[in-house]
Amino acid sequence: MLFRQRLKHVCFAVVFISLTSIVFANDQAVLPSVDTLVGMTLSDLAKFDGKDGRKAYVAVDSIIYEVTNVKAWKNGQHNGNKAGTDVTAKISKAPHSKKPLKKLNKVGKLIPEPTSDNTSIDTVKN
Ligand code: HEM
Repeated sequence: MLFRQRLKHVCFAVVFISLTSIVFANDQAVLPSVDTLVGMTLSDLAKFDGKDGRKAYVAVDSIIYEVTNVKAWKNGQHNGNKAGTDVTAKISKAPHSKKPLKKLNKVGKLIPEPTSDNTSIDTVKN
């Protein structure tokens, strides 16, 4: 009898742990953290200008958002703004401020351009 009761508790614990891990796994899939976003420099970003069938991306506060299918950004243009650029300074002055960002997919984060100071290849001195 005692064995049966113990077995019941063990089964309950197994089901509980499985369910909670599924919930946490889903949470991670739905909400990727900023650290998992792909790094892109300003010159990488410039390639996503929304022209000739290319995707349209814009950066705001170092986060890169996709605007390819946003009607107001047709052909990568929007009220004098261009896709493939950092619009951080301009969006704060727009009538809608940063509200439209909530609906967009985050595709990456802005990283500094590599310079001779931060490349990993060291020059060999003779
Ligand atoms: C990710 C960036 C942005 C997104 C997704 C976005 C999206 C939109 C959308 C969906 C509209 C409404 C269009 C319509 O009613 O047909 C709009 C309007 C507008 N946006 Fe943006 N926008 C962005 C950035 C900017 C920037 C940087 C500016 C620069 C100042 C700007 C200026 C405006 C203006 C002036 C309007 C018209 C507002 C009005 O008619 O009341 N937007 N935007």
